[in-house]
Amino acid sequence: MTRLSVIGTGYLGLTHAVCMASLGHQVIALDIDQAKIDLLNSGIVPFHEPELPELLASALASGNLKFTTSWADLADQADVHFLCVGTPKSKDSDAADLSQVNGAVASLAPHLTRTALIVGKSTVPVGTAERLAEFLQTNSPAGSEIRLAWNPEFLREGFAVQDTLHPDRIVIGITNPEAETGVREVYASSIEEGAPFITTDYATAELVKVAANSFLATKISFINAFADLCDATGADITELADAIGYDTRIGRRFLNAGVGFGGGCLPKDIRALHARASELGLDEQFEFLGNVGRINQMRRELVVERAKALTSDDLTGIRITVLGAAFKPDCDDIRDSPALSITQALVDAGANVVVHDPIALNVVRRLYPHLNCVDSLTDAVSGATLLIHLTEWAEYRQLDPAELNSVAAGRTIIDGRNVLDRDKWINAGWAINYLGKPGS
Ligand code: UGA
Repeated sequence: MTRLSVIGTGYLGLTHAVCMASLGHQVIALDIDQAKIDLLNSGIVPFHEPELPELLASALASGNLKFTTSWADLADQADVHFLCVGTPKSKDSDAADLSQVNGAVASLAPHLTRTALIVGKSTVPVGTAERLAEFLQTNSPAGSEIRLAWNPEFLREGFAVQDTLHPDRIVIGITNPEAETGVREVYASSIEEGAPFITTDYATAELVKVAANSFLATKISFINAFADLCDATGADITELADAIGYDTRIGRRFLNAGVGFGGGCLPKDIRALHARASELGLDEQFEFLGNVGRINQMRRELVVERAKALTSDDLTGIRITVLGAAFKPDCDDIRDSPALSITQALVDAGANVVVHDPIALNVVRRLYPHLNCVDSLTDAVSGATLLIHLTEWAEYRQLDPAELNSVAAGRTIIDGRNVLDRDKWINAGWAINYLGKPGS
């Protein structure tokens, strides 16, 4: 078993630390935020992620997982250090803000007094790993005994534990075979399960990550552009996606048209890649990513336009209930959430909006205190003229519209995710409106 550290206890870092401890590794995880460390030490996961609280509790109880704010402890108690800090969008450009990555490496380096392997997992612009490897060798007391591997992460929120324990591939960028041995030891159980292990150079490993997210984002904007074409011609985007999805070269996944993508990864990663490609003189080749982002933004505008069209073009004072706030189901992450951006636009247009979400409302209340959040679905729908479904939680799919008839003021719903059962809603007396397929 490896003595390893995890630097940064956000979504990626905490999941990684907890999962590695559950595999039997000795893990010490660092965050510079003492309040967060106190919370984690008391066994509380600060965000919603299935399975993680239970695994955190057992990792703490087993003694395999410790949290710290001390770089000296970290360097002392681990031989492999996973770099899992965030790389948000820069304030003044689309490029990634590398201050957390640079800060973490600068803090760690002076404490590296013996052979160590640093494994970068953060999503970074191509060229970063090479620069960090040089920095670590120059600034660590152990000098050339410090190795760096780049190991991009592909976990999805809502499935973070399963994706970490059973990855569909492991990619590492290295310059030294000893680094590969170290990474293989950490991931021995996944490798034994048959996860493909791809060894490559730093630049390829860095690009694999952004290529994957750009492809997924492009797939979503592709189908959403076709959703507009379907609307313009009376065609049905779901049937179209099903039909092209049978072609295994295309595949059906990530072809669900609707309000588009959000979250802390896809939107930021396509912008950062476009910015990096432009720096490298490849702006024209990567201009399509600008269009992918623009199509995605237009989805949000489309829903507001639809709402206007359904309410005599004036949203002033119209009681609208928004179903969903998280950027996707099974998480409470509202970063760049289409649901919230649409909600804000409706509020700006004068609508009287009530927001419902099964899990994310506490986060919404904290970050958007001006929004009207209601916990009970029935209360949230009470008095609404228009419902807008924006996050495809199972609860909304299973909703019996007939039960809403006694509380809702109107009988119209916009399904921004194209998943609600048309017949069920129509039979209960509702008019249903989709994005790219005929409603009623
Ligand atoms: C994404 C990638 O899927 C992960 O592989 C990657 O590791 C992660 O980013 C990351 O870079 O850390 P995630 O942000 O959790 O994962 O979310 P996704 O499941 O990819 O969904 C992204 C958005 O696309 C959501 O808003 C979702 O509602 C939307 N989406 C997804 C669609 O609109 N249509 C689809 O068909 C699929």
